[in-house]
Amino acid sequence: MDFIFAGIRHNFPGMLTEREGEFLADMCRDKFVLELGSYTGMSTISIARTARHVVACDWHGGDAHIGAQDTLAQLNANLRRYEVRDKVTLLVGTFDVTLPLLSRAQFDVVYIDGAYDYDSVSHDTIEAERLIKNGGVMIWHDANNPKTPGVGEFLANEMKDPNSFFTPITFGPDRIAWAMFRN
Ligand SMILES: C[S@@+](CC[C@H](N)C(=O)[O-])C[C@H]1O[C@@H](n2cnc3c(N)ncnc32)[C@H](O)[C@@H]1O
Repeated sequence: MDFIFAGIRHNFPGMLTEREGEFLADMCRDKFVLELGSYTGMSTISIARTARHVVACDWHGGDAHIGAQDTLAQLNANLRRYEVRDKVTLLVGTFDVTLPLLSRAQFDVVYIDGAYDYDSVSHDTIEAERLIKNGGVMIWHDANNPKTPGVGEFLANEMKDPNSFFTPITFGPDRIAWAMFRN
């Protein structure tokens, strides 16, 4: 996939459009960011270019959507190639094991881009709610993608939930959705 960010053409496997990359860079400027699902680093690099620091969590074993694959070495190489390795801490393991190790309410932004089925998005969002600061921003990828209906279904239920901790969810650009977290 070709991907242009800040005038630079990137060419490695990834899951992000140029507009999504620019949106992430804008939202994460000077922020402390948690990313769930890094793959080979397209979103990680987009975020790390402007963020204060990124904690990038992935077990690097793939999932039902992308298939089984080991992406850790490629992620590391891409972070070096785009000169953001020093701004990224890699947390390698499955979310159910790694996220409980992090202390609560420390992140300004959480970007959720792990497995796309309803239960996974729900699990990852609930775990992330413990980790995001009050007033922080949660961003979901593939929110309105017909190939990944679980994300949209989860967000539709969240919008209907009177006890939701999120401000109204905003859609766009492309497959992004985001909301502010208030508890
Ligand atoms: C869609 S890809 C992420 C794409 C990436 N954000 C990008 O912009 O290219 C999803 C990633 O989530 C990881 N993943 C899925 N379920 C996971 C889990 N339960 N724990 C840790 N990583 C997981 C997969 O290994 C995969 O690399």
